[in-house]
Amino acid sequence: DTVDWDPEDAEKGSYDHYMLKEIHEQPVALRQTLHGRIDGDDVALEEFPPGSFDDVDRVQFVACGTSYHAALYGEWLLSKDGVDATTYIASEYAASPAPVDEDTLVVGVTQSGETADTLEALESARERGARTLALTNVIGSTAARTCDDALFIRAGPEIGVAATKTFSSQVATLVLLAERLVRDITGSPTSDHADRLDALASLPEHVESITTDSRAADISQRCLGDNGHFFIGRGNAFPVALEGALKFKEITYGHAEGFAAGELKHGPLALVTPETPVIAIGTGHDEARLKSNVTESRTRGAPVIAIAPRTASDLADVAEEFLPVPATHPDLVAILANVQLQLIAYHAANAMERSIDKPRNLAKSVTVE
Ligand code: G6P
Repeated sequence: DTVDWDPEDAEKGSYDHYMLKEIHEQPVALRQTLHGRIDGDDVALEEFPPGSFDDVDRVQFVACGTSYHAALYGEWLLSKDGVDATTYIASEYAASPAPVDEDTLVVGVTQSGETADTLEALESARERGARTLALTNVIGSTAARTCDDALFIRAGPEIGVAATKTFSSQVATLVLLAERLVRDITGSPTSDHADRLDALASLPEHVESITTDSRAADISQRCLGDNGHFFIGRGNAFPVALEGALKFKEITYGHAEGFAAGELKHGPLALVTPETPVIAIGTGHDEARLKSNVTESRTRGAPVIAIAPRTASDLADVAEEFLPVPATHPDLVAILANVQLQLIAYHAANAMERSIDKPRNLAKSVTVE
């Protein structure tokens, strides 16, 4: 007798999809990511004691897809504290590499450590004398083996093609790495380091409060139309707007785009109608300008879903729907907002009966250029 049984299904436990399981695993993944790495108001990165990056004078990130958005978040963290940092799409960097020297640290952000475009970009940096670092989930991966250094995100295996928990763990690891880099390169800790590291230690429980109690499933029903879905944010919410749109298009096959909120008026506003949901991501910091972007969208009739800390009631007043996230350090709020975006994409795709864990045309790891 044959039994129609797929061992992969057993591992999903009570979840319908790996993606949902992995969204819910984020508190555990983040605890692993952070374990032993925060030491009071400093970081304790075993591989990188203080002074490890004394010779570095600029940082270049190379990455693809979701990892590219995590890298943009890392660039934002470094830039705000005075470190020269730039993020490149790995395939573009491979084709036309930015100048490097021996004081350039090139960080490949790659969950799998096997993405061909990212490996090629790292190779180009190495050949030209830069120092390379792999920020990856997979010990023994090609990136970990071939870079000068590796820093592991410790998220545990991710099966769903759409990256979820690895994004959160990448960004949390970048917060840790940024603390070490800023101290070594500028000689001072990051501004607000004690509060930010405190907030980072609380990130797992903050994520948990979203995964156990979110209205995202209801709200996602507003995102089932055939027109565009626009995701907007400023500062560290901008890479999360890009990530929210990528997640949405990957698994719903609906058109979605992320914009820096300030760019809305420079073109995309022409597309905003009552048929195009706008998802606005607030960090609770400098919210007035985002609020005016939300109002611009509402004036064109667009349904606006705002995601922001509960305390940012301003956005709740102007948006049609409001999805709160726990109040935390503004540098970390966007990580929490991203969890709500993962849930919106998941529940919209589920309502459309999409192949959530294996979307058409996509692969978990793209090992061709
Ligand atoms: C593929 C996956 C994406 C992923 C990207 C980079 O395109 O479908 O989800 O973000 O590769 O993967 P990496 O393993 O380098 O992070």
